[in-house]
Amino acid sequence: MKTFLVTGGAGFIGSNFVLHLLGTRDDVRVVNVDALTYAGNLENLASLEGNPNHIFLHADIRDRDAMAQALTQYQPDVVVNFAAESHVDRSIENPGVFADTNVMGTVNLLTCCRAAWDDGKGGFGDHRYLQVSTDEVYGALQIPEAVNPDGSPADPAGATYFHETTPLSPHSPYSASKASADFFVRAWHDTYGFPSVITRCSNNYGPYQFPEKLIPLMIHNALLHRELPVYGDGLNVRDWLYVEDHCRAIELVAEHGRLGEVYNVGGHNERSNMYIVRTIISEVRQATGDAAITENLIRHVTDRKGHDRRYGIAPNKIREELGWEPQTRFEVGIKKTIRWYLDNPEWVEHVTSGAYQQYYERMYAGR
Ligand SMILES: NC(=O)c1ccc[n+]([C@@H]2O[C@H](COP(=O)([O-])OP(=O)(O)OC[C@H]3O[C@@H](n4cnc5c(N)ncnc54)[C@H](O)[C@@H]3O)[C@@H](O)[C@H]2O)c1
Repeated sequence: MKTFLVTGGAGFIGSNFVLHLLGTRDDVRVVNVDALTYAGNLENLASLEGNPNHIFLHADIRDRDAMAQALTQYQPDVVVNFAAESHVDRSIENPGVFADTNVMGTVNLLTCCRAAWDDGKGGFGDHRYLQVSTDEVYGALQIPEAVNPDGSPADPAGATYFHETTPLSPHSPYSASKASADFFVRAWHDTYGFPSVITRCSNNYGPYQFPEKLIPLMIHNALLHRELPVYGDGLNVRDWLYVEDHCRAIELVAEHGRLGEVYNVGGHNERSNMYIVRTIISEVRQATGDAAITENLIRHVTDRKGHDRRYGIAPNKIREELGWEPQTRFEVGIKKTIRWYLDNPEWVEHVTSGAYQQYYERMYAGR
């Protein structure tokens, strides 16, 4: 058995990753460490109840004793750090907690892993640490002069992209905190020979995403005939990746990526926010037969402060070195995602009413 210690495994991507690992392999045990902030939801993991290969620890990555103890008790082979504050708008309102969790939490985890894994001869055995980072650390790209109606570059070969060598230039408190954590991870590798690797992925979408982020927010509001708030002109472009493709990339890099390296993860699915919102309106209307879901619901609102114009990932390295390819095109993934939200009204209801936060008490209190 190989033991993965996954932090933030009750969040959106983390829970998809845990479900992916335990759903596709029987040689893996997962120790899932999550502080259960507003973004952590154990209902995402309800299908793992009673699975002896899933161990949940309610703990904070900033807690030195708790992390040291988890590493001693469970002796993980691989640590994957998803735990973070992840919403840019919240980072603009309250940047301090992003520095605390994303920077100091990462430094604490690195410190504890280094202490636990040190073999006394300057090595760390076969242990590996993966830091889940984001393309937002690179800053923003220009929108090319010619774009397709969906917002993607009309001439992809002539457009600019983020490469692993692109200098970091974060703009939001969120991306600044993620970039800072990346520098600490690299410092641990370069200074101590610590066995770390970093992934930088583009925007994810799929099941279990908290409905404060663009895609689930728009699906949820459309179903309720609420306004669909679009920042500014809506022409900002993001490179969208179906979460399952990200999970496969993380698994590959965690086990086979070259230590000390960074791997960009993206699938060349650049779409403008307006295109995403229009697609959701038409798909949700089709899936529900509800004629009241129209573009009249769209409302342009004041733009986000410092709103990056375009992100676009060059995923050549992970493809060439590790053979990773995205399997889900945006037009397929968005349909699957909408279908998941329509089929799981209780999950949405619990998250939006706050009831999900009592789940831990119901399922775990007193155990
Ligand atoms: N969502 C995206 O599109 C995207 C893209 C690229 C990279 N990422 C990165 O992937 C990671 C996961 O993103 P997500 O969208 O799933 O985030 P999320 O907000 O859905 O989940 C974060 C999880 O971390 C937990 N957490 C927060 N602070 C913690 C702490 N101090 N100790 C332990 N657990 C804590 C939360 O309870 C939650 O379960 C983040 O590091 C994020 O920067 C996200």
